[in-house]
Amino acid sequence: METADAIDQRFTAREFLETPVEPETIRELLTLASRAPSGGNVQPWLIDVVAGDAMVRFRSFLAERPMEAAGYEIYPAELWEPHRSSRFEVGMQLYDSLGIARDDRAARGEQMMRNYDFFGAPATIFCFVDRRMGPPQWSDLGMFLQTFMLAATDAGLATCPQEAWATYSGAVAEFCGRGDDVMLFCGVAIGHSDPEAPVNGWRSRRRPVEDFAVFH
Ligand SMILES: Cc1cc2nc3c(=O)[nH]c(=O)nc-3n(C[C@H](O)[C@H](O)[C@H](O)COP(=O)(O)O)c2cc1C
Repeated sequence: METADAIDQRFTAREFLETPVEPETIRELLTLASRAPSGGNVQPWLIDVVAGDAMVRFRSFLAERPMEAAGYEIYPAELWEPHRSSRFEVGMQLYDSLGIARDDRAARGEQMMRNYDFFGAPATIFCFVDRRMGPPQWSDLGMFLQTFMLAATDAGLATCPQEAWATYSGAVAEFCGRGDDVMLFCGVAIGHSDPEAPVNGWRSRRRPVEDFAVFH
């Protein structure tokens, strides 16, 4: 697959088939992802892979755990334009694809809760970072994760990055055997996208280059 095609075809899948993903495949994707650049080549990403039996154990472990306060502020408290509208618009696209009415808070909540079943995905990676790392290293995590997701797309797999796990960060850390010295950034659910699911049948929009770039 051409790089441009992988970039274009990657999207956030929110309904996965049960088809398993082998840990060896995830190892190969992680090896590729680790070619991502990072300031000073510090490579700040810390990854836990949960798949197969471990995923079964994780699901039952999580069922016993309460939701927590988010481990970090997922969005600024008052999002401003144009970001606020972009966020609103993608939410509308998502709920419209599922036939969920705008004022149906219960159905929205239920859909949100599907995050905690990985939208049915058979595997995930959890991405942690040492608490001593700062914003530049967090941006390195983003590069790692996008490289991982593009490599997955190239391999015919689908992904869903999930900040939702910030609200179970203590539980995830405990399951993974991680200490307080690190914090969870997000999970990335991995699997085969369900091609029949309407929730996978739309694409988020982007603002045009003129809206965010200045040419001098
Ligand atoms: C770091 C990160 C965390 C995200 N967390 C979630 C999440 O918890 N649940 C979810 O459904 N989507 C999540 N998303 C997906 C975004 O909503 C999605 O990337 C955005 O709307 C653009 O759509 P696209 O990925 O299909 O291009 C996350 C994306 C990123 C990059």
